[in-house]
Amino acid sequence: WTRRGLLKTAAIAGATGVGLSAIGRLGSLAAASPEPVVLQTAKIQARLMDIGPTNNVLTYGNAGMPPVLRMRKGEPFAARLVNAIDDPTTIHWHGIRLPNKMDGVPFLVQPYVYTGDHFDYAFTPPDAGTFWYHPHCNTLEQMGHGLTGVIVVENPNDPKFDAEFVLNLRDWRLGDDGQFIDQFRPRDAAKTGTYGTVRTANWLDQPQHDAPAGGLVRLRVAITDVTRIYAFRVDGAEAIVMALDGNPVPERFSPDALLLGPGQRMELAIRMPDQEGAVVSLRDVRGTRPKILATVRATGSSLKRDFRDVAPLEVNPVAEVDLAAAQHISLALSATAENVPSDGICGSLGYSFWAINKVPWPGDTSDPTAPLAELKLGKSYVIDMENLTPQSHPMHLHGMSFKVLSSSTRPVQPLISDTYLIQPNEKVQLGFVADNPGDWLLHCHIIEHQKSGMTSYVRVV
Ligand code: C2O
Ligand code: CU
Repeated sequence: WTRRGLLKTAAIAGATGVGLSAIGRLGSLAAASPEPVVLQTAKIQARLMDIGPTNNVLTYGNAGMPPVLRMRKGEPFAARLVNAIDDPTTIHWHGIRLPNKMDGVPFLVQPYVYTGDHFDYAFTPPDAGTFWYHPHCNTLEQMGHGLTGVIVVENPNDPKFDAEFVLNLRDWRLGDDGQFIDQFRPRDAAKTGTYGTVRTANWLDQPQHDAPAGGLVRLRVAITDVTRIYAFRVDGAEAIVMALDGNPVPERFSPDALLLGPGQRMELAIRMPDQEGAVVSLRDVRGTRPKILATVRATGSSLKRDFRDVAPLEVNPVAEVDLAAAQHISLALSATAENVPSDGICGSLGYSFWAINKVPWPGDTSDPTAPLAELKLGKSYVIDMENLTPQSHPMHLHGMSFKVLSSSTRPVQPLISDTYLIQPNEKVQLGFVADNPGDWLLHCHIIEHQKSGMTSYVRVV
């Protein structure tokens, strides 16, 4: 089945647009043990710049961008990671609440998957939404070179759209000759992180799609970049944010100026213009070099659809935090005064610029620092997180979803999420029920920050 699996993976990679669900879901008829999807790491050449192919690009499955994986809420999923690159690896299923053993963090929950070895992942996603997958080993190098893919967990009860597109947003650090340059600069790692030089959506400069005029488009966007924070805007059509980080938003809002960081996802509903040929664009308007990320062109005569046709998405089965009984965990994000060189053996950057509660994580080692906190299974907790640095940090918790309760600097919706982009001088409260036993990482998703100290974990027993 290995070869068949690979071919299936390749077929999915080529089709991220309309009608994907018609191709068939992964794992065939989803009995107790579905056929595993094979995710084989590979080093390939890919055309990321006009000048010619880039060497040493990493992917799963040899067919360009890692495949968009389709799963179904409440149905078993299985994948075999086959490691064919020259570096140990693992897969982490970002945002999916799954058993600890399947979480993909080396040393903490599973051994390395060495070159030539494989590892079988199996879990049942409880939540519908947009998620993603990536290695959790030597992450700056492996993710920086391409190993970031999008996951769609479907819910058969979702409202019907006239088209659906998935965008995997990321940058590459390439020189003028189209080849990789140094993945980071230490002075940038100590600030915002080192930005890529070439920006892509689905490994293209600017993908162009067609959708029916007057139709409703579902656009799933995942920021899988290692550094960049985006500020979105949709031009040429009305758009609403339906979901963030794999969960429906309590109240829909316009995506204009929405800030999202590495690891975060959004789902938009876009009402296409009535006029044939009209072009809708998704833009990043942050900073001094705004970019059109992707476009959708209206085709045919208008379907005359209405946002009222988009019923609210079903809420995911996340346990409600008991605020009266919750214990509080204080968490301070800071820069470290001293740069203690760290000796992590899984791709540590060799610096410690950052700390959580004054402790810089030493890198992924066989001897991780003690957990930040030991949590009792089934009990409610509130993380009081404070950002003492002048940078923003997309803080990600593995294994459990939290609810955003309050912020000291801005009005917040009670979003359910796995990644919170905390701003400079912001204090935020994140509530959750510790309902998943195991060791769960909590880290900044700007990978240079993660890899130079801004990581820790909680233990649920
Ligand atoms: Cu996207 Cu620790 O992960
Ligand atoms: Cu950070």
